[in-house]
Amino acid sequence: MAATNRAWIFEHPPVGDDFDSALKFRDWPMPEAADGQVLVKNLYLSLDPANRRWMAGPTYMPQIPTGAPMWGFVIGEIVKSNAPGFAAGDIVGGVGTWSDYSAVSTQGLDKIPDMGGLPLHAAVGLFRGPGGTAYVGVVDIGQLKAGQTFVVSGAAGSVGSLAGQIAKILGATVIGIAGSPEKCAWLTHDLGFDHAIDYQREDVEARLRVLCPNGVDVYFENVGGAVGNAVAANMAKFGRIAVCGLTAQYNADRAPVGLDIMPLLLNGCTMQCFILYDYLDRLGEATAKLAEWYGAGRIKYHADIADGLEHALGAFKTLFQPGAAHKGKLMVRIDPSAN
Ligand SMILES: NC(=O)c1ccc[n+]([C@@H]2O[C@H](COP(=O)([O-])OP(=O)(O)OC[C@H]3O[C@@H](n4cnc5c(N)ncnc54)[C@H](OP(=O)(O)O)[C@@H]3O)[C@@H](O)[C@H]2O)c1
Repeated sequence: MAATNRAWIFEHPPVGDDFDSALKFRDWPMPEAADGQVLVKNLYLSLDPANRRWMAGPTYMPQIPTGAPMWGFVIGEIVKSNAPGFAAGDIVGGVGTWSDYSAVSTQGLDKIPDMGGLPLHAAVGLFRGPGGTAYVGVVDIGQLKAGQTFVVSGAAGSVGSLAGQIAKILGATVIGIAGSPEKCAWLTHDLGFDHAIDYQREDVEARLRVLCPNGVDVYFENVGGAVGNAVAANMAKFGRIAVCGLTAQYNADRAPVGLDIMPLLLNGCTMQCFILYDYLDRLGEATAKLAEWYGAGRIKYHADIADGLEHALGAFKTLFQPGAAHKGKLMVRIDPSAN
């Protein structure tokens, strides 16, 4: 029987959080690999808040074409190669499409090595994107030192859970901010964070004043909005803010009221935004360190997996729901046989 293809089609940029009209699930013609491309049978799809900004217009990625499958990071197996250096059977990861099959250029496509004891999705969920971003944000941008106080928002998410664990390994006191009692308990009981604050039920600014009497030395910003302002009000003298993401603001149609930088001025703080694509030369070190720490049991990796491509959009929406149940990396298993 010939293979069939299904895809989430990007109809138009969403208005606010109206994803149901922006993306439609359809049977879709099997893509063909042009010269220099490979045809990939997708095994896993990574769901990332950044996908929402890609939908809004050009970013560090070009505009996603309308009337074609939505873009996302995938892990898959090459079923046909028209590109030198890649062969049928290779397991690869890179930007593909929300579909059963993707025809992709090999530029930026990585061959995924044997993962040892780790599940295949860790190639995208632990290493590369989330792990690389967490490592660069803590080490290069945050310039965290042992003995400092480190705060991370979106702490129970993919990047935040790794950033907090890295900061702990580097000798910091680590405080995570997350959206439910369950997530906060996971951070302190399972991941070794020193404290966790439930921003939906607690006064973040007041709790930080108590937990950090000398202020926050390094803040890893993942969400922005009210949480970002509550941390900014508690920064230490010469503190550093590594701005990684602003999830709370991604669905806003207009620029929201921004960060109050008065406390940053008064404390001589440094705020630096960063995009991992500008630090790809740091991925080698990040991957080696993460592998070493994971192997030594010093870092835990958790992924929540939605089974079935048809559930991709429902799972994606939960990235923007404060307190939604998933923890760590959110992925879709497209091929039920993927490990
Ligand atoms: N700069 C880079 O190169 C780079 C690379 C990767 C990711 N990022 C960014 O890093 C951030 C984290 O990414 P991720 O993949 O790890 O996502 P994630 O944290 O796994 O998922 C998003 C989480 O954000 C929280 N959230 C949603 N709406 C919120 C709101 N209104 N206020 C506060 N928190 C809210 C939710 O957790 P709670 O239940 O705890 O609220 C949600 O689970 C994103 O902004 C992403 O775009 C940047």
